[in-house]
Amino acid sequence: MKELSLTKTKQTQEDKNRQKELIDSGVVPEHIAIIMDGNGRWAQSKGNIRLFGHKVGVDSVRDITEACAQLGVKFLTLYAFSTENWGRPSAEVRGLMRLLVSSLRKEADNLHRNNIRLVTIGQMDRFPDDCIKELDEAISLTKDNTGLELCLALSYSGRWDITEAVKKIAKHVEEGRLAPNLINDQMIGDHLSTASIPDPDLIIRTSGEYRISNFLLWQLAYSELYITELYWPDFRRNELYEAIQSFQKRDRRFGKVRKKNKDEISN
Ligand code: FPP
Repeated sequence: MKELSLTKTKQTQEDKNRQKELIDSGVVPEHIAIIMDGNGRWAQSKGNIRLFGHKVGVDSVRDITEACAQLGVKFLTLYAFSTENWGRPSAEVRGLMRLLVSSLRKEADNLHRNNIRLVTIGQMDRFPDDCIKELDEAISLTKDNTGLELCLALSYSGRWDITEAVKKIAKHVEEGRLAPNLINDQMIGDHLSTASIPDPDLIIRTSGEYRISNFLLWQLAYSELYITELYWPDFRRNELYEAIQSFQKRDRRFGKVRKKNKDEISN
């Protein structure tokens, strides 16, 4: 079988064993979402400019994407640029856009060879033309791939997503095609930008902040939360394995009772 590889280095036997252990020891999350935080602080702690942190952050993106594909994760959603990030100094915003374009140029073929499908969520029309062009090309190149779906949240915010869904539903009501009392959870989910994918099973946040920061507000209702003190550029596959291991120990009840307790109640 062809090995999945985005990085230049060959996967070690030790890493293959670790992945096999994880796959054998429980359920690997179907959908992982990540708030990649701490690039700026990581760079500054090394006496460097913030943009350097974003650059090294791209290496983490590559490593985590590759590891997720190898583990058989179906969806990986990365919070790459929030609606609020437009408010950063213009030099940083421009630097991030350039980094996005250069990363896509470098990685698109690689994603394609590895059967990864690239998609985006967010207000793409706010991006400069060269970003949109590069994204469109990578999306269309990889659209028929059947492996991991890599979703970049770009100019995204959970409140924007919900607002857009509400506007679409309100239009159906206005046009007389929908009675308000028929609006339910399912319908709202179906009008979000993530309509075609399941809610995240696991949400990871780096840099030790205990916040959701306007990420997938609706979709995270029952996601398991994993927070690490590490800054994003230091978050690599071994840390991902720790997060998945922690996920495998969780008792997901979705607001209900554990199976064992349920049996005790019914007896
Ligand atoms: C958070 O760190 C990170 C971001 C706002 C951007 C994330 C972007 C990348 C990893 C690179 C580009 C991505 C792709 C997919 C090519 P921060 O700047 O908020 O750090 P701080 O909290 O220390 O200030």
